Amino acid sequence: VTTTFVAVALGATLASQGAELGGTQPNELILGVEPSSSCNCHDNFNNPDVYRPAHSYRATMMALSARDPLFRAAFIAAREDRPELSELCLRCHAPAGWLNDRSKGDLDALIADDLEGVTCDICHRMEAADPPLVGDGQYTISSRSAKRSRRGNAPGGGHQVIRTSYVASADSCAICHSLFNPTEDGHDEDGNVLPVVYYEQRTYEEWLDSDFSKAGGETCIDCHMTTTRGEAAEGAPVYDDLKVHDFVGGNRFALDAVAILDRNVFSPSGVELRAAREWADRSLARAASLEITEPSSQRLSLQSGDTASLGVRLTNLTGHKLPSGYPEGRRVYMEVSITMDGQDKQIVSGRWDQATGDLVRDEQLRSYDTEHGRVMNGVSRREHSLILMNQIISDTRLPPRGFMPDPSRPDMIPAGRDYGSGPYRHYDDHTYELVAPDVPMATTGTVTVRAMYQATDGETVRYLLQRANGTEEGNKLEQVWEALGHAPPREMVSVSIPITVRPGAVDVPDAGTSDAGTITPTTTGGCGCNASQARGGLGAIFLLGLLAFVRRR
Ligand code: HEC
Ligand code: HEC
Ligand code: HEC
Ligand code: HEC
Repeated sequence: VTTTFVAVALGATLASQGAELGGTQPNELILGVEPSSSCNCHDNFNNPDVYRPAHSYRATMMALSARDPLFRAAFIAAREDRPELSELCLRCHAPAGWLNDRSKGDLDALIADDLEGVTCDICHRMEAADPPLVGDGQYTISSRSAKRSRRGNAPGGGHQVIRTSYVASADSCAICHSLFNPTEDGHDEDGNVLPVVYYEQRTYEEWLDSDFSKAGGETCIDCHMTTTRGEAAEGAPVYDDLKVHDFVGGNRFALDAVAILDRNVFSPSGVELRAAREWADRSLARAASLEITEPSSQRLSLQSGDTASLGVRLTNLTGHKLPSGYPEGRRVYMEVSITMDGQDKQIVSGRWDQATGDLVRDEQLRSYDTEHGRVMNGVSRREHSLILMNQIISDTRLPPRGFMPDPSRPDMIPAGRDYGSGPYRHYDDHTYELVAPDVPMATTGTVTVRAMYQATDGETVRYLLQRANGTEEGNKLEQVWEALGHAPPREMVSVSIPITVRPGAVDVPDAGTSDAGTITPTTTGGCGCNASQARGGLGAIFLLGLLAFVRRR
């Protein structure tokens, strides 16, 4: 059984042929999926020191995907704009609701079990489709209720276990971490139709087309699940390499929002919330490395009013673009500041305005993000409604190491920033101009660069509030937006060098000396992963030629 969507785009190529989505269809399962709340033998709230695999999973965004107030407000817009297509959203955000055919209407049709989001059974009853399916929540759920996992056995009185490597493969994540609109053709930044449907998210393919999917690379699970010592279930064997379900990115805003709106989802002690917040901070800290490349002496010595260059390199250490996934309002950017001893910090570039929740667009701003739009009758405009998007206007996100998109995926080529000629660089070099501040006497201080992660911004939230105006979802989003201080960006990594500034007015001999010499550059966050240089090659140049042909750049 397949679902057929009727194309709406005029003059479309792929999309106009109609699009079918496969996998298990609504009401097809005789033995329905169980909610996560019936899997509590795999959690241990009372003693968080003894790990069990589901420890704190309920506080990750996948478990909160149907409660997430940003999602709920965006769904209202999708439902209004494309009522016949909006059930697509629930395939991934409320899979149990979709499988039980409660996804055709509005969110009120979902029952409590559906609100548990991506539940244990969705992953642990998923099996490979033949031919494989990628994207749009086209999961194939086994007709048997047995749980599928790479190891384990049926504990007394528990459920059966079928051993399979599929659950532990990136192919299982691919089902939802690739998101396309089957009824819309993709368009490039110039509005040209691409030979591929429009993709809103391509985290899986970003990984696939990088060094990480090659031999010796890392899979989604290698990076997104840590291992620890613990018991697989209550009374089950203890493993040294138990998989912790700490699937997080950097989204603390939505987590904190659900903690306000649906507090009763978590245990009274809040142990899951604390764990998930720590995981998110840890995840952000290992997502990138930052270094100051200029001045090579790693120190600045200037006169007031002098300008100096500050070279900064930001390197993506994740296995996909940085940031990846959801395109709206999510970005990484650099904040550069000077703090002279005894004075307040002065932001040179990358100031976030708490009043609006937006990043201030100064001339030197360096941010990594993507903007999507809609091409209609040859006219392109910025679009915020996810279900209407069909164009990638810009994509300046940092590519992953060794990134070389397959020619069938021309929509993945960076747009609006030069990352070389493929494989695209997984780092970015940017030079800032600093002006030495006024000082009454020779003063020492610090120049600091911080890589910041912004989960959502004022522009996105204002749009969603306007679309969900007068609804309960709109009210809730407004409540948490205010309560959480407009989603302040979070620091990922930072690096500092010392600066000495002397008053500029009078002639100062010996411009080279400074008394700040004992301060050494410091780096916080980041990990020791080695970020090797992007490699070129004739094959790559040939491919690039092909790509350039497909996509006018
Ligand atoms: C193929 C699976 C899939 C489908 C279909 C899907 N989403 Fe999502 N959605 C995701 C994933 C995965 C993320 C998280 C990506 C990330 O963290 O960057 C996400 C994130 C979001 C977010 C951001 C949430 C936050 O807290 O920042 C919103 C809003 C959202 N989706 C709305 C929608 C709407 C509306 C639809 C239907 C038009 C939809 N999604 C369809 C998988 C899907
Ligand atoms: C997003 C997919 C996903 C979800 C959702 C998920 N798991 Fe898992 N789970 C995995 C992966 C991947 C592994 C590790 C590979 C394996 O064991 O097959 C795993 C492993 C396990 C294991 C075996 C641990 C080990 O180290 O052998 C248990 C038990 C388990 N999960 C229980 C649960 C429970 C209970 C839930 C719901 C609260 C859940 N899982 C939700 C993907 C998921
Ligand atoms: C049934 C669909 C589905 C499957 C399968 C799935 N995901 Fe997700 N995932 C989602 C959705 C939906 C979200 C976003 C929820 C939101 O932000 O509202 C998400 C979010 C995430 C996030 C980001 C969380 C954050 O804090 O920003 C990570 C990391 C993640 N998933 C990893 C994985 C991995 C690894 C696998 C494979 C083992 C996997 N997912 C399989 C649907 C899925
Ligand atoms: C080399 C390690 C690594 C690999 C491999 C990896 N990730 Fe990530 N991922 C990270 C880190 C670190 C972050 C946090 C930074 C961030 O949020 O962008 C992250 C963030 C995410 C996010 C949140 C996106 C965002 O920017 O907010 C999603 C969703 C995600 N990963 C899914 C996946 C999936 C699916 C795969 C496999 C196809 C995968 N990851 C492979 C390290 C990895």
